[in-house]
Amino acid sequence: MSRDVIERFGSRQWTLRRLTQFADRGRGRCPSHARRTPVETGRRRVGDNGPVVDKSLWARKIEAEPEHSRRFLQRFRDMAASGQDIAGEARFVDTMAPRGARIFDAGCGSGRTGGPLARLGHSVVGVDVDPVLIDAAKEDYPGATWLVGDLAELEVGFLAAAGAPERFDIAVAAGNVMPFLAPSTRREVLSRLRSVLAPAGRAAVGFGAGRGYPFDEFFEDVAATGWEAQATFRGWNLLPFDAESEFLVAVLAPSVPGRSGGRSRGAFGAPLRDAHTQPTTRPRPSAGSDPMGGNTLRPLH
Ligand SMILES: C[S@@+](CC[C@H](N)C(=O)[O-])C[C@H]1O[C@@H](n2cnc3c(N)ncnc32)[C@H](O)[C@@H]1O
Repeated sequence: MSRDVIERFGSRQWTLRRLTQFADRGRGRCPSHARRTPVETGRRRVGDNGPVVDKSLWARKIEAEPEHSRRFLQRFRDMAASGQDIAGEARFVDTMAPRGARIFDAGCGSGRTGGPLARLGHSVVGVDVDPVLIDAAKEDYPGATWLVGDLAELEVGFLAAAGAPERFDIAVAAGNVMPFLAPSTRREVLSRLRSVLAPAGRAAVGFGAGRGYPFDEFFEDVAATGWEAQATFRGWNLLPFDAESEFLVAVLAPSVPGRSGGRSRGAFGAPLRDAHTQPTTRPRPSAGSDPMGGNTLRPLH
């Protein structure tokens, strides 16, 4: 089975199942769960008994506006060509990582974070649901492994089928990946990210306020999926997070049962829930603010 086919559909096991379904449909047969795997509703079943996952908001956006990916890609390429800094997140992650680390770039887009990390000698795997951006990542940063896939379906078999490491020292989700997940899959994605992490692994997750995923809900999801926040910042430049912050960068680690750890206290010793609470109606930051969290970029998406 070619790697392209596996990339389109996911793991080898999943691919075989999907191809069988397509063949069945061609013969006029439709397995019962295939009837519930429809493009029209945007929901599909993961595995035989797995959850039915909603399509990511990004996937819905590019369905409605097919040129969105290319515009997004071009803006980053233009910025890089004009010498602007698009690698603040990569520097942050490099500081967290041992040399030659296994790094998982979740929602990697066109590879602007994982790509520079691969050039620094790390072993990088990026997964993104957008095939246009994955093609660009392959072109611009050939030193890493780039895979089309939905993070809500991430599993070790999918990584193994691509010859990628199955466990990672660091996972990163930069540039508003979290608000672009289907809201119903947020906990699933956090759990799956945790499941591909090495025991002492950590994750860095950054996203902006006013994008439909309030920070307090994020921290509830973090706690519910076996993570704890070890540190919080208002940008990838390490400025401290507070209740007014328009961006959050959270360093997460698997929680240790019986230890309250970093999850109970936030910036300046304030109870974490208070420090991280953001009103759901918080407006999206204005064009002149710093939505990329320390890179002083204008909003791109
Ligand atoms: C704003 S872009 C950021 C891309 C990249 N991390 C960056 O900082 O340049 C958000 C990315 O999240 C990806 N994404 C959203 N939901 C996803 C999902 N469920 N699985 C995989 N990728 C997803 C999108 O395809 C998109 O590339």
